[in-house]
Amino acid sequence: MKKEGFSSRIGFILAAAGSAVGLGNIWRFPYLTAKYGGGIFLLTYFVLMLTFGYALLLSENCIGRMTGRSPIGAFRKLCRNNGITGKIVATGGWINAIVPMIILPYYCVIGGWVTRYVFVMLSTPVSDFNAPGVPTDCFVDFLSSPVQPAVFFAVFVAITALVVCLGVEKGIERFNKVLMPMLILLIIGICIYCMFLPNAKAGFTYYLKPDWSKFSYMTVVEAMGQLFFSLSIAMGIMITYGSYMRRQDNLVACVNHVELFDTVVSFLAGLMIIPAVVAFGGESAANNAGPGLIFIVMPQVFASFSGGQIAGAIFFVLVLFAAATSAVSLLETNVHTLMQELRLSREKAIICCLVEVMIIGIVTVFGYNLLKNVHPLAFIEQFKNKDILDTLDFISNSVLMPVGAIFTTVLTIWIVGLKKICAEIRPENGKWYRELLYRFCMVVIVIPCLLIVLLNATGLLK
Ligand code: PHE
Repeated sequence: MKKEGFSSRIGFILAAAGSAVGLGNIWRFPYLTAKYGGGIFLLTYFVLMLTFGYALLLSENCIGRMTGRSPIGAFRKLCRNNGITGKIVATGGWINAIVPMIILPYYCVIGGWVTRYVFVMLSTPVSDFNAPGVPTDCFVDFLSSPVQPAVFFAVFVAITALVVCLGVEKGIERFNKVLMPMLILLIIGICIYCMFLPNAKAGFTYYLKPDWSKFSYMTVVEAMGQLFFSLSIAMGIMITYGSYMRRQDNLVACVNHVELFDTVVSFLAGLMIIPAVVAFGGESAANNAGPGLIFIVMPQVFASFSGGQIAGAIFFVLVLFAAATSAVSLLETNVHTLMQELRLSREKAIICCLVEVMIIGIVTVFGYNLLKNVHPLAFIEQFKNKDILDTLDFISNSVLMPVGAIFTTVLTIWIVGLKKICAEIRPENGKWYRELLYRFCMVVIVIPCLLIVLLNATGLLK
């Protein structure tokens, strides 16, 4: 099989950032921040990003570059000759490979919601969203009908599949270079506008000033789940991307860029949405935030200024694009796994993945209407009050990703050894300022953090 590679460092950074920046930053981060206390969540997230997230992101890229393989192969290669321990740790590769198969279907469901809002912005007068209740009703009514969300979900899957079939490098890289900066500029513009909304000050305080009384272990658990999701770690993507990197590339510098880019976009998305939520609905609206947040708040923002209609349409198109680049990287990873492990041709692998996505995705869509009261896993305590989408999100982010990350950590520390890993990471000409921090995090911070997340998933921490 021909090995693809990145032609330049910027190629890697763009591809990794395109995968990392997506709905996680624009849809998931703001609602979690609003829900888990604003400033305190933001602070926890930053601290974890600089320690825990950084350590795992770097380790995964390093494992990829060391082995030149995708996750299953990489784990297998490094665990060889380690007897039974090696065999056990090698299963970590499979966990890393299964996670994106769980995430992709529900990711596309939300991609479908974004697609629908592009049409809403083009067809409904945005001033309608000024009336109280309308923004929420518009979203809730949409979710409770089985047909529309299913259709938009299918449209989003079709867009993603088309890109993967056409080949990722040419189209997507070129788009990425233009549309990503546009998205960021638009978000900054909206942030500035939101600063002048009446009551926005309370929202800024809520977002930027940590309120310690709102801190609980759930802040840490959710911030960590968000890190996995947002950085695309514990799902083999960064291992795969690392494997495309060339020996002479500076691993540390590349990872720093991805980390910075992803955090800045999340921070700006929060700055755009949270003051607006508080301005329109007060702090209680923030505390009750859920997955619908951007779909309910952003139309209200656009309704409040002239030209909002066009800005709204452009906004959702750009979010759609950010979502599509991430969905493409998820689909590519799954296709790659099937091609390597089951020896399927590319076409067959794409078809298998699409069938899987369609089945789980449609069940997820029906979780909000036809299957509302018949959750297939409702007999398990943790899933009782969750929608199917929340359940999939929980299984991947709070259970499988921490388990996968534990395997990665064990692989790094014990099987390969930090000495060898650090020698691989250390740039030949250049400095690695955070080496000590990296070592400290890998040995002391990462495993306890992951255990807390897992303990929470068992429900024992209630
Ligand atoms: N990191 C992406 C986001 O923030 C989501 C994603 C997860 C993409 C896993 C690829 C792989 O939206």
